[in-house]
Formats: sequence, structure tokens, C-alpha cells
Amino acid sequence: MKGRILKALGEHTGILSGEQLSASLGVSRVTVWKHIRKLQQLGYEIHSSPVGYRLVHCPDALFPWEFEGRESKILYYPQVTSTMDIARDVARKGCPDFTVVVADRQTQGRGRLQRQWLSEEGGLYFTMVLRPQIPVLLSFRVNFMASMILAKLLGTRFGIDARVKWPNDILVDGCKLCGMLAELEAEAERVAFINIGIGINVNNDPGAVQPAATSLKIIKGRRFSRKNLLAAFLDEFEARMKLADFDRVIDDWKKVSMTLGRQVRIVTTREVAEGRAVDVDENGALILERDDGGREKIIYGDCFLV
Ligand code: BTN
Repeated sequence: MKGRILKALGEHTGILSGEQLSASLGVSRVTVWKHIRKLQQLGYEIHSSPVGYRLVHCPDALFPWEFEGRESKILYYPQVTSTMDIARDVARKGCPDFTVVVADRQTQGRGRLQRQWLSEEGGLYFTMVLRPQIPVLLSFRVNFMASMILAKLLGTRFGIDARVKWPNDILVDGCKLCGMLAELEAEAERVAFINIGIGINVNNDPGAVQPAATSLKIIKGRRFSRKNLLAAFLDEFEARMKLADFDRVIDDWKKVSMTLGRQVRIVTTREVAEGRAVDVDENGALILERDDGGREKIIYGDCFLV
């Protein structure tokens, strides 16, 4: 109902009477009034007067009703430990494909390789529960698809030259804008769910604690709407997932990658490898060419451009 009220108010220039609203929505004026009061408490600036209501300003909020058509699959929290925790719980309980857990803050945000992901207010933190009908072997391509789609979207919608650093970090001018983390559970060789967690620095200032990080606000010098960014990404990503053409993903990813052709150092908990990143194979592994001409396949690790 809140989404419908906001839509009606948004489409109407000027004041909309309580009577008009209740008639068009098929509910009583008291119901309309109760929802409007709740919306006002949540930060929506809605002027109410004896003649009706006028929508003045919407906050950049991630409430389910902000995502038309996805309302039942958006699980919004002001604060969580990690959206990965909630997503794993709901996935195990059988939530539908493309359920999205989103939070304003995370107290124990997780990064790759057991690192912490700082999650202060202003950033966008979400985890998608995906249930693609694919063998486990192909599951990594979903992560590559997500980073490729997001990097492209940042370019086409916002004019930002975003590049992917192997495997799935998104960088702008060499600074990290976005990180991705995936968790998977399988049943008999097939994927039961892949949870992809994405953290995007939007209106926060991560550079204060992480000098090599940036945010959309820092890049463009203005605030961005997190809900518009999330909605646009979910639409693009879901459309591409529906096509299920996982054959082209790695090639498309290479077009937005900044890693290939560069000298890199890959650090894992067990070793450090250095060489020129010459390719990414069909399994997402990075092919390194060492100075002696030998080649090595790297499956995971932290990639530093040398
Ligand atoms: C990395 O670059 O190390 C991956 C960072 C992933 C962060 C996101 S924020 C939403 C989701 N919840 C988490 O705890 N982590 C991921």
C-alpha cells in the first residue's frame, strides 16, 4: 500500500485529496492517513493539509516498496551483522530465486579472504540469493556476470569508467569502489543457491580508513541514489541471468577488465605468485606468465597490480 500511495502522490502534481487517494486505491481514508503518517515517520516529506496530501521529498531509502515488482523479495534491515548471514538463513529456508537482503549498515560486514568489510551509513550493502539451474562447475560465472554487469552499468548510466580487477573487484582510477563475495551450497553437483554479496561505496567516504578506496560521491562530487542504483543493477542482472547464456560471460568480462596484460602479484594465504596476467580461462582462473615464460593457473587470491 505504501508503494501505491507514493506512486499516486508522485504521479500527481500538486495536492491530492484523501478522498481521491482512498477511491483510487480502494481503501478507507483512515487507512490512507495511517500509511501516510507511517511514511512521514520513516523520513518521507509529505505535506498534509485539510485539502489533501503533497509529496515533497523521498529519502534514499531501501524499503521494499521502493522496488516496484520486487516488493515481496526485498528484505530490508536498517542494521544487520552481515547481509550474508541473513541471506544464508533465508536461502536454507527455501526463499525464492532473486531474494535480495539489503541493509543500511553492517556491524560485521565480511570481505574476501576472511577480511572485514567496513559498512558505514551511505554505502550500499546487499546479498542476492540466486538459484540458477546450473552445475557447480559453472557457478563462478555468475560472479563474473555480476561484476561485469555492474561495471558496464556504471559506465552507461553514470559515465564512470569502472574496470574489473580479477576476480570481481570494481575499481575506478585504481581505487576500489565495490567488492563482491560469494557463498554457495550444492545438492548432488547442482547449485542449491549462490549468494552474491555486493558492497558499493556510494555516499560514504571509505578513503578515510582505506586510502585505496573510493566512492561514487568522491568520484562525481555529488550524492547518488542507492535505491536507483540497486534497482537498475537488479533489473540488468536479472535480465541477463534469465537468458542463461553463460558461454559469453568470460569474454564480456574481459572487455571491462583492467587486469589482463598487466604485471600482477597474487597473494594467497599460502603463496605469492608474480607475473603478467595473460588470460582468464573458462573456469575464471587467472593465467599468469612468469618471467621465465612458464605459465601458472591461479584459482583464488588477492590481485595487486605491480
Ligand atoms: C571484498 O572485496 O573483499 C568483498 C566485499 C563484499 C562486501 C559485501 S557488502 C554486502 C555483503 N555482506 C557482507 O558481509 N559482505 C558482502
